[in-house]
Amino acid sequence: TEYDDYSCWLQYTSISNREWVEHHQSLLSQIIVLNGSMVVKSAKQELFEAIKSMAGITPTLSNELTSQYGIVLATYKDHPSLTDHLSSEEFQNLNEEGYIITSFHSGSQRQLLIVGKTDIGVLYATFHLLRLIKMEENLDDLYIVESPKNQIRMINEWDNMDGSIERGYAGDSIYYENNRFTGDVDRLKDYARLLSSVGINGVSINNVNVHEIETNLITSRFLPDVARVAEIFRAYGIKTFLSANYASSIQLGGLDTADPLDKNVQECWIEKVKEIYSYIPDFGGFVVKADSEHRPGPFTYNRNHADGANMLARALKPFGGIVFWRCFVYNCLQDWRDRSTDRAKAAYDHFKPLDGEFLDNVVLQIKNGPMDFQVREPVSPLFGSMPNTNQVLEFQVSQEYTGQQKHLCYLVPQWKGVLDFDTYAVGEGATVKRIVNGELYNYQNSGITAVSNIGNDRNWTGHSLAQANFYGYGRLIWNPDLTAEEITEEWIRLTFGNDSEVVASVSSMLLKSWEIYENYTAPLGVGWMVNTDHHYGPNVDGYEYSVWGTYHFADCHGIGVNRTLKDGTGYTGQYFKENKDQYESVETCPDELLLFFHYVPYTHRLKSGVTVIQHIYNTHFEGVEQADKLVEDWKQLEGKIDYTRFGGILNRLQEQAKHSREWRDQINTYFYRKSGINDDLNRKIY
Ligand code: GCU
Repeated sequence: TEYDDYSCWLQYTSISNREWVEHHQSLLSQIIVLNGSMVVKSAKQELFEAIKSMAGITPTLSNELTSQYGIVLATYKDHPSLTDHLSSEEFQNLNEEGYIITSFHSGSQRQLLIVGKTDIGVLYATFHLLRLIKMEENLDDLYIVESPKNQIRMINEWDNMDGSIERGYAGDSIYYENNRFTGDVDRLKDYARLLSSVGINGVSINNVNVHEIETNLITSRFLPDVARVAEIFRAYGIKTFLSANYASSIQLGGLDTADPLDKNVQECWIEKVKEIYSYIPDFGGFVVKADSEHRPGPFTYNRNHADGANMLARALKPFGGIVFWRCFVYNCLQDWRDRSTDRAKAAYDHFKPLDGEFLDNVVLQIKNGPMDFQVREPVSPLFGSMPNTNQVLEFQVSQEYTGQQKHLCYLVPQWKGVLDFDTYAVGEGATVKRIVNGELYNYQNSGITAVSNIGNDRNWTGHSLAQANFYGYGRLIWNPDLTAEEITEEWIRLTFGNDSEVVASVSSMLLKSWEIYENYTAPLGVGWMVNTDHHYGPNVDGYEYSVWGTYHFADCHGIGVNRTLKDGTGYTGQYFKENKDQYESVETCPDELLLFFHYVPYTHRLKSGVTVIQHIYNTHFEGVEQADKLVEDWKQLEGKIDYTRFGGILNRLQEQAKHSREWRDQINTYFYRKSGINDDLNRKIY
C-alpha cells in the first residue's frame, strides 16, 4: 500500500517497523465485537481494513470474549465483566460520546478494550487506536480516557445544487451536480470517515444562502436523497442538517407571508418539519441565514430575530431538532460616506438585547470575529454577553480571505487564540472555549461549527497541506486544550509518516504560515484590501468606497478605523471592562489589532519600536522572504514525500511565493504614495 492524497490522514500504509508489527502480532490478530449497531459495524470495518493493510495481518472476527488475544469493541453495557475491570464511576464521568481504551490482562488473556459509553464512543476510540498504530506507539499498557469537550462539533457545507461551492477552493460539490444529488455513495462514505475520525458529529449539507432550487431540499422532491445522505452519515455518528430558506412558507407553502407570528406560517412549518422527520427520523435541524446579505427574514414583518428563530424551533422541538440562527446580520448597503455606522457593531446591537428570548433549541451561530473571517480580527464581543442564550462559535476552515488554498495558511493557531481569549464576562477566566462548551452559563446546546474547506478534488482540499486545517479543526474542537504543536505533529505523522525530519520541517512551515500570510497582506488588523467578489489577491481600495461597511480610511496622514468610545464608533464599548479598556487606548491596544481600533499617523510608533509605515514595509518584505523560504524548506524534503504530493504542494508554494510579491508591491507602493515616507532600508518600492 502506498501513500495516497485521497486518504488524507487515514493512510493505512504498511508499517515498515517490522519489530513493532511482530510485537503486536497476536493483539492485532483478532477483533472481538460485542455490539451490533451500525456505528460499531463502521468501527469494525475500519479497524479490520486498517490492520490488514498496515500490519499485513487479516484479523479473525468473533463475538466471543473467551479468546486469549484481541481487540474488543464494546459499549459499556455490552461487556459482562467490564465492571470487574473498570469502575462504573469511570464511565459515569464520560459524556455520551466518550470512551476508554484500556489494556486488559488476566491470566494468559491479553486484550485491548475499546469501550464507548455508547456506540459512537466505540467508533471514536477506534480512530484513536488507529492513530496510535499509525504512529507506531506501544499498545501494551494503555489507559486512555476521552470525552469531547464540545457537544456540537459541526461542519457547514456551502454547496449549491448546481455543483458549485460558495467559497470553495477544491473543486465542485461532492453532494450535488446539475441540480441533482451526485449519488456518489463511496465519496460520501469516505467523507463521513474523515469527519468522524476527528470527531465531527453534525453536517449541514447546503449553502447558507439558500437559492431557489435548494429551497426545495425540504420537499418530497429531494427528501429521499437527503435521507440517503443522512443514512451514510448516520453510520458514522453524524447528524444531517439543512440550511433553510426563511421565506419557505411563501416559496413552498403558497402563502403570501413569512411573518413568524402568523398562524398559517407557523402551521406551515409544523407540517413541513413533520414531513422531514418522516424521511429522516434523526434529522438535526436547520441552519438559517436571515435578514443578512439580502436573505429574507423576520425584519420584513417588523418582527425580531427571536420571533423568527422561535417559530422554527417550536416546529422542531417535538422531534429534538435544533435551529442554528446566524448572527451575521449587518447593513450591506451602507453609504461609505457615513462614518457613524460601524459594521463591527451590528451583530451585538441586533442580538444582545434579545438575550433570554430564544427557546432552548435555538443556538445563535456567531462568527469568530465581528467582521468576516479576516486574517486578523478581534474576537466577537457577543461571546460572553448573552448568558441566557445558547451560542455556537463559527470558524471558517475554507480559506476565503486567507489565500484560498493556494497559499499555505494553517489556521489552528488563530483558532486557538480565539478559544483562549478571555472575555472577562464573569471576571477572569471567562474564556471563549468555556462559553461555547456550555460550561460557563450552562447552555443546553452549544459548541463549535465551521465552513468546510473540501470539494471533489482528489485530495479534497486543493492544497494538500490544507488538509491540516480540516484535521486540526476537528481535533481542536474535540479538545480545545490540545496545543497547536500536538495537533500539528499528529497530523503530519498520520499524513506523511514518522520521519522526524519531515515532522520537524512541515510542522515549522505550518505553524509559521498564518503569520507569513499576515505579513504580506493587510497590516495590523485592518483587514480586507482584497479584490471584490472573489476575494483573492491584493486591492487596497477594493472595498474602500463600497456598500459593504469594510473600510481602512487610509489618507496622506495615517490609517485605521477609530472604534473607540471616546471619539470613534463606540465599538470598544461592546466588550467587558478589561478588554474595553485595553482596546480603547492606543497605548494598550495590541499592535496586531491597532488599526482595527484606531486611526493613527504613519509615524506612530508601535510597541515593537518601529513606526506604522516602517512596520508595513518591513513585514511586506519579510513576508515574501518567508514565502520563498517555504519553497526552499519543502524542496529539502524531496525523496521523503511521495511524488504526487511533493509536486502538488511544491506548485502551490511556488504560486504563493510569486503571488506574495504582488501583495508586497501593491501594499508598499500604495502606502509609499499615500504617505510620501521612504523606507529606512531603501528597498525597492514602485
Ligand atoms: C461572507 C462570504 C459570503 C457568505 C457570507 C456568510 O460574506 O463572502 O460568501 O455567504 O460570508 O457567511 O453568510
